[in-house]
Amino acid sequence: MTEHNVHHPRPLIRAERLRARCRQMGRAIARDYAGQDLLVVPLLGGAFCFVADLVREIPLPGLELHFASASSYGAGTISSGRVQLSALPDCAGRPVLVVDDILDTGRTLEAVCTALTSAGISSLRSCVLLDKPSRRIADISADYVGFTIPDRFVIGYGLDYDGRYRHLPDVCVID
Ligand code: IMP
Ligand code: MG
Repeated sequence: MTEHNVHHPRPLIRAERLRARCRQMGRAIARDYAGQDLLVVPLLGGAFCFVADLVREIPLPGLELHFASASSYGAGTISSGRVQLSALPDCAGRPVLVVDDILDTGRTLEAVCTALTSAGISSLRSCVLLDKPSRRIADISADYVGFTIPDRFVIGYGLDYDGRYRHLPDVCVID
């Protein structure tokens, strides 16, 4: 049997703060896209908690969701820098908002934005729950950022370590 919680998660951002920030961001997005049929493209699995809370705070009647996924090869906390993308939605002529859990080196978001841009969308913005600017390699920033955090490996609220801990309600740091 595996020993659980061997990494001793410690809360960094608690569920109540996450919920409050989603409300603020959702309202800002709703203001910015008023009257438009926004296509939200969350990147699974990391964004699953964040986007669920976020879109419920965006009262736009024409909003649609299309789930995509982007994964870099490699396990654990090491990103190999090569990004593999799932099929992207038919989004020609639409305003698109890409949503991800965390902006780290920026390679994932850069690859997704490049692919979406070549799909003929009308506008593109990005929204991330967490930003680790100290680790950036790609020349990219997000339009909506929930929290800027130091260079620590975080888990919970969708973020995983080797597939574990996504279900934790708080964003936590591990050793
Ligand atoms: P990037 O391509 O380096 O910006 O990495 C983005 C992806 O790496 C995120 O969508 C996460 O899946 C993963 N990632 C980066 N930092 C962390 C972290 O601290 N915890 C968990 N996953 C992370
Ligand atoms: Mg991810």
